[in-house]
Amino acid sequence: MTTTPSTNPNKTLWEKGDFTQLAQAMRGSGDALIESLGVTSGMKVLDLGCGDGTTAVPSAQRGAEVLGVDIASNLVAAGNARARELGLSNLTFQEGDASDLADLEDDTFDMVVSIFGAMFAPRPFDVAKEMVRVTKPGGRVVMGNWIPNDPTLVAQILKISSAYTPPPPEGFVSPMTWGVEDEVVERFTAAGVPRENISFERDTYLFEYDGTASEYLDVFRRYYGPTMNAYEAAAANGKEDELHAELETLFDQQNTSEEGKTRLTATFLRVTVRV
Ligand SMILES: C[S@@+](CC[C@H](N)C(=O)[O-])C[C@H]1O[C@@H](n2cnc3c(N)ncnc32)[C@H](O)[C@@H]1O
Repeated sequence: MTTTPSTNPNKTLWEKGDFTQLAQAMRGSGDALIESLGVTSGMKVLDLGCGDGTTAVPSAQRGAEVLGVDIASNLVAAGNARARELGLSNLTFQEGDASDLADLEDDTFDMVVSIFGAMFAPRPFDVAKEMVRVTKPGGRVVMGNWIPNDPTLVAQILKISSAYTPPPPEGFVSPMTWGVEDEVVERFTAAGVPRENISFERDTYLFEYDGTASEYLDVFRRYYGPTMNAYEAAAANGKEDELHAELETLFDQQNTSEEGKTRLTATFLRVTVRV
């Protein structure tokens, strides 16, 4: 059987690389984040844009019944393989789009978690509406979103990369707008949530990699869709070395490890919505 390549650019972008290669450096922060949310046994949790389960696995390890939904079929397969290896029968991954969760019923989950996930879906107003729709009254939506122009790692990677990539099609809404409080408020109030039920905090994620910062940049270059696209576009314009030099400087400057390893801290906006 031959598989037809996807014509959805959002799906193509995330299936292009292999996010599992980057995610291994993010497991510690994923676990700490879930611990801080008080996920406990018996809760029903949806992890949206879950990748291979950096936050879905720790939720299931705390006894919650967890569904991971992601647009990338390779990451869904990787997540299901992790769940099997870890013996987590309370954790399932399935393909889906955060802008249209048609397979999921209203008022199903105690918590919807989306860490650097749903922010990448198109049609942000639909994303907010869908997250609220599938959350039980009294439940919570928790998002982690990168912040535009923040000086730390991921916002800077995306900023540098975008300078080398062709402009997006007209009408494209930048995922980074999910890191702007006013935009987030507009989206969730349009989904029927009162303003006072939406709160924000600055939080940090740690990337810990057992090699040099330059080697970790190479992981982004080979496996992270947005960085892969930036390198391809830069190469087409003879600017690959320039892009690489900018990213090398960024990774070196931000690395706080003094042992030839990599420790990079990135700030994000933590959004909590009480439904
Ligand atoms: C930066 S990764 C984060 C993955 C995971 N949450 C983590 O913390 O490791 C972004 C994820 O969002 C997923 N994604 C992008 N657009 C999506 C959409 N429209 N619906 C569902 N998932 C999406 C990607 O496939 C990818 O797994």
